[in-house]
Amino acid sequence: MKSILDYETVALIDDDDAMEIIDQTKLPGTTEMIRLRTGEEIWNAIYLLQVRGAPAIGVAAGFGLYILMKHSQAPTYDEFMKELKEKSDYLNSSRPTAVNLSWALKRMEAHVVKVAEELGDYDRDALITAMREESERIKAEDIDVCRRIGENGLTLIKDGYGLLTHCNAGQLATCKYGTATAPMYLAHEKGYKIKVFCDETRPLLQGARLTAYELHSAGIDTTVLCDNMSASLMKSGAIDAIFVGCDRVAANGDAANKIGTSVVATVAKRYNIPFYVCAPTSTIDFNTKTGDDIKIEQRKSEEVTEMWYKERMAPEGVKVYNPAFDVTDNELITGIVTEYGVLRAPYDVSIGKLFDTMQSRLNKTDN
Ligand code: MRU
Repeated sequence: MKSILDYETVALIDDDDAMEIIDQTKLPGTTEMIRLRTGEEIWNAIYLLQVRGAPAIGVAAGFGLYILMKHSQAPTYDEFMKELKEKSDYLNSSRPTAVNLSWALKRMEAHVVKVAEELGDYDRDALITAMREESERIKAEDIDVCRRIGENGLTLIKDGYGLLTHCNAGQLATCKYGTATAPMYLAHEKGYKIKVFCDETRPLLQGARLTAYELHSAGIDTTVLCDNMSASLMKSGAIDAIFVGCDRVAANGDAANKIGTSVVATVAKRYNIPFYVCAPTSTIDFNTKTGDDIKIEQRKSEEVTEMWYKERMAPEGVKVYNPAFDVTDNELITGIVTEYGVLRAPYDVSIGKLFDTMQSRLNKTDN
């Protein structure tokens, strides 16, 4: 029987001018693939979390921009770029916190500019082909990067470890392996007997509905707990390390991730449990100085008061606090696991060095 891990989180269906996603709002009960063609469909799918998780949002944005520009009739390069920027701004407005969204859109635009310069004369078809190729590259790189994060994270795990994770930084949040789950999948492949504990992750239950689903489907020993149970679990000695994903890492190492992550990190520090943030470099925002500069998405109150319940579970008219993310202060983070290795404090220095390495690689490929 087909497992959830056999489905592609995001796929380009070029001959149908569409991208196909698993509608993650229906999991784990129903696995429904949906095709997105218009700007509104793509925007809504990202906003409603039908496709979600920072890297998957980035891949969807790349495919989305390509699909929206594929039949552009722009008669000049300037008009082509104006149309591209309008569509890019529109997609970028769907969710504010995960930097992969703007990262992928900027990367698509920069690639078009580069190819246009190489071409000299305006060639609409060539620019559209370049967009398709770049969007496919973003996806292929995501798979490679997650695998490398998995290999680097695996060095932090021993046979028999109890691991805790929050939200879903799994295959469903990427194109394969996930980020926080990648070391778990590799540890399992290696025959390590790990136990993974998944915070259910209120209010949208990504931990219970998605992470527990994919890890359990992979045959990993998986346990779900309510978010407010993790402190007692950590105190009991069952947890040897914590791996979470992130939506944006600031230049000083502060990391925004699903709401509740900073609570887990604070409690982990209390019990001396290593707390690792898994971050592809596409999630590191070198232009954001600290976590205070990260915009936190606020979501609808119904997600807290009504969703998943048969009837409303808070009095009518009561105020609701529903930020989708929080920022974990860098001093609570034991290491940031990237595709290039595990960064350690002081993060302004290790992240600065990583930035320099990436810049010199970029300069080499440009020359
Ligand atoms: O609101 P979501 O479900 O998109 O939030 C997702 C997370 O917080 C993930 O941990 C993060 O995007 C990393 S995914 C590899």
